[in-house]
Amino acid sequence: MTGLNILIVWCANLRRIKVPWWAKICAKLLLSRIPFSYALFARFGAFRHGRMADVGYALAVFQDHLSRAGLGTLQGKVCLELGPGDSITSALLAKGAGATKSFLVDVGAYACEQVEVYVSQVPVLVAAGLPCPSLDDAQSNADVLARMDAQYLVHGLASLKTIPDNSIDFIWSQAVLEHIRVHEFFDTLAELYRVMEVGGIASHRVDLQDHLDHSLHNLRFSSAFWERDWWADSGFYTNRLRRNEILRCMTDAGFTIVAVSSDRFSRLPLPRHKLAAEFRTIEDEELGVRGFNVLLMKGRGGSWSSH
Ligand SMILES: C[S@@+](CC[C@H](N)C(=O)[O-])C[C@H]1O[C@@H](n2cnc3c(N)ncnc32)[C@H](O)[C@@H]1O
Repeated sequence: MTGLNILIVWCANLRRIKVPWWAKICAKLLLSRIPFSYALFARFGAFRHGRMADVGYALAVFQDHLSRAGLGTLQGKVCLELGPGDSITSALLAKGAGATKSFLVDVGAYACEQVEVYVSQVPVLVAAGLPCPSLDDAQSNADVLARMDAQYLVHGLASLKTIPDNSIDFIWSQAVLEHIRVHEFFDTLAELYRVMEVGGIASHRVDLQDHLDHSLHNLRFSSAFWERDWWADSGFYTNRLRRNEILRCMTDAGFTIVAVSSDRFSRLPLPRHKLAAEFRTIEDEELGVRGFNVLLMKGRGGSWSSH
């Protein structure tokens, strides 16, 4: 076994053993400098872009967003998932729910390219009441996407800019908004607003914990440090925007907030004095939000219910 292999296996074990947050940062800083493909890292569990290749997870997440949006079906609709992560399963989900077309927009081509993964998902989705077409003769992800009338776009904000105005009826994301670089955050929301059809609906789940230890260790660092590219490109970046800042950006972009539901830490996971100065003055009520779901509309008035 080479030194690199030992390092990768060690990092795979990071998920199973209790490793301090700072050690995870060190490991990720190191590993992200090694020129291996995403597929190889994902195989060892060192870096993973979510869990959408797991059809049970993907189905549960999709159905949750549909139900939050009050949509029984996507019949005749066009939909967009921001940040599909490690698979193009959302294309199957959208087609199975009746969408005429779907867009999957990410910042890299992270989707699994083993077509048999998607072939095996079809019967599961059909059994769950999402009758997507058979993929038995699909040879590549391009075939899967064509069969599902889907486009997989991997240049983030630049990709969103290629989508026509008012063309999407339903937008959703799961654990993605917190990963958008802070300097692109508002522009991304503005693009999502532009592409959404009047009367369209968006459902987002946002995870505000650090992505190290389900805590707030990410708030220990000043923005001047945290936003440096070499740091932000190391696989643990979150933009650290708090719930109310995110909601403000959404309304500034033009969206109407229809509903917000938040979940909280039982108590603040870090003493305030450990946070960088810029976060120390945030009120407990706001700092204590661990994550939230938000439902947005374009155009129609909505009443914002929050809990
Ligand atoms: C934690 S993963 C979540 C993946 C998937 N939604 C899930 O629930 O398994 C975050 C995803 O957001 C993507 N992402 C980060 N910044 C983005 C951006 N500006 N636009 C689109 N996707 C982005 C990442 O590449 C990654 O695929």
